[in-house]
Amino acid sequence: MENIKLTIDKAFGFVDKKLVENYNSAAQKANEDLQKGTGKGSDFLGWLHLPSETSFEFLADIENTAKILCERCEVVICIGIGGSYLGAKAVIDALSNSFDWLQRERKTPIVIYAGQNIGEDYLFELQNMLKDRKFGIICISKSGTTTEPALAFRLLRTQLEQQQGAAAAKDLIVCITDKSRGALRTLAAKENYKTFVIEDNIGGRFSVLSPVGLLPIAVAGLDLQKLIAGAQSIEQQTDITVPFAENIAAQYAAVRNELYRQGKKIEILVNFNPKLHYISEWWKQLYGESEGKDGKGIFPASVDFTTDLHSMGQWIQDGERTIFETVISVKTPNHTTIFPAWDENLDELNFLAGKRVDEVNKMAELGTMIAHLDGGVPQLKIELPLLNEYYLGQLIYFFERACGISGYLLGVNPFDQPGVEAYKKNMFALLDKPGYEQQSKAIKARI
Ligand code: PA5
Repeated sequence: MENIKLTIDKAFGFVDKKLVENYNSAAQKANEDLQKGTGKGSDFLGWLHLPSETSFEFLADIENTAKILCERCEVVICIGIGGSYLGAKAVIDALSNSFDWLQRERKTPIVIYAGQNIGEDYLFELQNMLKDRKFGIICISKSGTTTEPALAFRLLRTQLEQQQGAAAAKDLIVCITDKSRGALRTLAAKENYKTFVIEDNIGGRFSVLSPVGLLPIAVAGLDLQKLIAGAQSIEQQTDITVPFAENIAAQYAAVRNELYRQGKKIEILVNFNPKLHYISEWWKQLYGESEGKDGKGIFPASVDFTTDLHSMGQWIQDGERTIFETVISVKTPNHTTIFPAWDENLDELNFLAGKRVDEVNKMAELGTMIAHLDGGVPQLKIELPLLNEYYLGQLIYFFERACGISGYLLGVNPFDQPGVEAYKKNMFALLDKPGYEQQSKAIKARI
């Protein structure tokens, strides 16, 4: 079996190779701190061995629950925000048919997301679409108290009970939340909903390989065993016994830290495959929330090429030189489409006749890489042999492990997110939530 491959040599025109190699012992120490639990935030390392500790019985429980939802529902609403939905959406979007909505004969329900915003029009239109449809709900919130998913759950549970009756609705709701704390746990226990636990030591953005990601991914009909097998293989290949030069997570962490030190403050994750859009959204949360603290951290951005070459291309080619790119490249597409020859070559594209669409895309990728190198943008590349569950499992675990190492190299705690609370306190105070009376007065005085 092949592996995902990291290439960093196109960064060496911008940073000294020797300086990156000098990270050897610091990266090894960071990886050991992860593995031995001796670094900052060590009570949030439950994700580290999730792949190797995933049991057959656990996967069977997830798969059986997904099967029940699939049998009973044409639509499954996945409620969650941040780490409680991005990983599942990233994998489902990457591996599902892009025109899933229009498939005439579906074997699995359509998975739709809610609780990731408070848009009234979005929720109105969602509820309208669900009228007279058989739908189920997976409600995911580790804390069980996050406002956005709680609001969506209140609306959609009410609708489900109205459409199906309270008793039948119970069999169409699954909750994924903390073992014992939080409003969602209390509600699920009272209503006797099927539940899965998010362990205390797994933070939201590191939870895609836990029930948080696995249940929606299984509902979408994807192969969990292959996803976990891919993650397991990279868990082994990034272990502390693997030397720095062969450890792709340590290499990625080292080179991006050195680029940052040399003034490259923004990392742009690039794809040439629109199916990977949400992989970037998931990655942005993983790195942004893990590293953006204490006045430090690379700003994680993303673009979908070639689409965004026609909007962001100018800035990347020619704007302020504070960026580097990490390109996710898929070696071989899953399908083949060949350009036809035209007798009348009016569009002057006959030079492409007989070629695969991907040949053109790959030349766009290569041409862009050379142009951006010429324009002063260091390039890192991660190549997936194919877009499938196995290699996405590899990619996910690679990014998680590298994020832990990278955060430690940067000197931050990669596993907390104190900055996320600020807006919530203000919102509750402005909404007159009980308990926020003092803040309410203070904030309203500032308006
Ligand atoms: O990574 C994180 O911790 C956050 O993105 C959370 O996942 C997000 O805020 C949702 O929190 P919860 O699952 O508690 O509703």
